Amino acid sequence: MPRALVATAEASPNIALVKYWGNRDDLLRLPSNGSISMTLGGLRTVARVAFDPAATVDTLLIDGKVAPPAARQRVAKHLDLVRAAAGHHLKARIDSSSNFPSGAGIASSASAFAAITMASAAACGLPLESAALSRLARRGSGSACRSVWGGFVEWLAGDEDESSYAIPLAPGEHWPLIDLVAVVSQAPKSIGSTEGHQRAASSPLQPARVADTPRRLSACRLALLERDFAALSEVVELDSLMMHAVMMTSSPALVYWQPSTLTVMNAVTEWRRQGHEVCATVDAGPNVHCLCAPGQASAIRPKLQDLPGVDLVFECPPGEAARLVQD
Ligand code: DP6
Repeated sequence: MPRALVATAEASPNIALVKYWGNRDDLLRLPSNGSISMTLGGLRTVARVAFDPAATVDTLLIDGKVAPPAARQRVAKHLDLVRAAAGHHLKARIDSSSNFPSGAGIASSASAFAAITMASAAACGLPLESAALSRLARRGSGSACRSVWGGFVEWLAGDEDESSYAIPLAPGEHWPLIDLVAVVSQAPKSIGSTEGHQRAASSPLQPARVADTPRRLSACRLALLERDFAALSEVVELDSLMMHAVMMTSSPALVYWQPSTLTVMNAVTEWRRQGHEVCATVDAGPNVHCLCAPGQASAIRPKLQDLPGVDLVFECPPGEAARLVQD
């Protein structure tokens, strides 16, 4: 009997500064627009993938528990791409565990698919360099293509599979921002990102949002390059509000915010007016990512924790690229 093909990889989630919302091609996950993110340090998913000649189905454990069928099917479909590239049909056992709760408003699909892609490619001996790995991770979850890299990352939208992948913009040391994630709800969201992306085209605001993206991407790149926090705040908050405007005006409408989401956003505006370098961005959920300039997080964190409705706060510096780890 041939031996199992095994590898383990680790990846961190990321927060989008300019967001991915909507696909030109849902199947290939070719996004309607490019995006920019910061990989989040301190948070990670570790995935062990073992292709086993004795296995008859793919099995997926998340944090030690058998995953729901939909999650298993999504991962099995992703592994089909890896199997096709590797030229075998072996089923796999996948063990994925994260050191952060999946309902905490931190995209666990990004770190999970980045880690699963890297581990499964390595297990099969596929010699994938980072751009190819990023392309493959994208097929599992769009934002996962950015988690292949550490620090500040741009996903080039591209116009076909080959040209849609992420590249590094700057290492984390370039500008050690801190993302304070204000968790206001840990309940699983009722509509996931994948369905949300499919609704984006129904909003009359999406074409305007997409058309303006090159401008926001340039502004964001420049703000990062020059470490200009005022410019970064402006583009990050505008971009988040534009995405939520699209969500809220889709059919059916998608409203991810809760009253505490607005409480945090308004507090951040007030703290910035008082002179603190902090800005807010919200992904597909109610929790608020508060980006702080270096040296600001120690003042902002206690204020955030004191706000009504804030359950807990995660503190994330820029994180590392996805990597293989010893079994
Ligand atoms: C709002 O990457 O989670 O976080 O490709 O369907 O897995 P799928 O979607 P996903 O979408 C992320 C949406 C977002 C913005 C972003 O991360 O750019």
